[in-house]
Amino acid sequence: MTGYDDEGDLMPYHGKPRHPATTKMPWWNPRYWGKRVWIGLAVVVAILIAIGVGVGVTVSKANAYPSYKQLAYSLQDTYSGEKFFDQFNYWTTFDPAQGWIHYANPGDAKAFNLTYATKDSAVLRVDDVSGPGSERDASTGRLSVRVESKKTYDKGLFIFDVKHTPYGCATWPALWLVDSANWPQHGEIDVLESINEGDDGNMMTLHTSSDCTMSGKRKMTGKALQDSCDSKVNHNAGCGVEGGKGSFGKAFNDKQGGVMAVEWRDDGIRMWQFARDGIPADISGKKPTPDAWGTAAADFPNTHCSIGSKFSNNSIVANIDLCGELVEASWKKSGCGGGKTCKQFVSDNPKEFSNAFWEFGAFEVYQAS
Ligand SMILES: *[C@@H]1O[C@H](CO)[C@@H](O)[C@H](O)[C@H]1NC(C)=O
Ligand SMILES: *[C@@H]1O[C@H](CO)[C@@H](O)[C@H](O)[C@H]1NC(C)=O
Repeated sequence: MTGYDDEGDLMPYHGKPRHPATTKMPWWNPRYWGKRVWIGLAVVVAILIAIGVGVGVTVSKANAYPSYKQLAYSLQDTYSGEKFFDQFNYWTTFDPAQGWIHYANPGDAKAFNLTYATKDSAVLRVDDVSGPGSERDASTGRLSVRVESKKTYDKGLFIFDVKHTPYGCATWPALWLVDSANWPQHGEIDVLESINEGDDGNMMTLHTSSDCTMSGKRKMTGKALQDSCDSKVNHNAGCGVEGGKGSFGKAFNDKQGGVMAVEWRDDGIRMWQFARDGIPADISGKKPTPDAWGTAAADFPNTHCSIGSKFSNNSIVANIDLCGELVEASWKKSGCGGGKTCKQFVSDNPKEFSNAFWEFGAFEVYQAS
């Protein structure tokens, strides 16, 4: 405490304490605190705890990451050989993606050689014969194929051997997992997907019902696009990851393609792409061990999305759409079509679709034992 002398100079204050009572009941001694003080203190402490917990939860949520503890997998299903397509249903009704195609039934697919399987390969192609003036034309859309595995899955480790991805202006091919009858409630997992020439690379994407985002920590080499997987956000763009140049189209095919490995489990969904000359020995040896595969191309952890409940009863689906929502959205700036609309381009130019085919080796589905 300080006081002033007669001249107004600052001097030490030696007077008696002005409030003798407070000397006996110092403010800092809790013994003398009233009820109001205690309540106030309790409120302050509660607020501090809440802030602390909030910060702690936020920090730990941002750092949360599934364990992805290695599971022991054993082979459950193999799709290969001459009977490859017997394990699939042919989708023959309207195209939900509004493409300029007619999906062939098994009879037409055989007659037009749109699905064809040998001991080593299964080919799924677009009609590249019909055009203006031919007996069957493509004036109302081109003949193509969409097949869906008869078996459905709730999780698993999928090994897709892919020798050739379809490409060319107007094409929209995809290899994916979905329950077409229960979309988006049962989720959608897009494994290989691209449009036109495919030189922008592969897109790996999830589509779900609400409350599913990828806004947390991820470990992957691909480039994340939108965080939200919710089909209602941004016109169903989904939470995509770009695989990079060479992961689709001619560049991928020129190296004899490779393997897409998809691990779908409650911890999350991860995808790896291996070039033909880099397929891990444990995959070729049918003893897949994802722990040994290094960083995934795409990682969709369960930290902000209940993967276990958002995905179920999915079939393996392979198709080639033409035009449709995704292609039409960027057609004008795609450099494709020479001024024609996408549909006109498709109807008029059968020869443009000679590379619009999938060629698969085997698909293998493993389950944790
Ligand atoms: C059908 O397609 C396959 C694969 O492209 C080809 O090897 C085969 O010769 C074709 N068959 C006919 C009858 O055109
Ligand atoms: C599983 O998927 C198939 C194909 O979409 C559908 O027909 C079937 O009703 C689904 N089953 C369940 C239990 O959701």
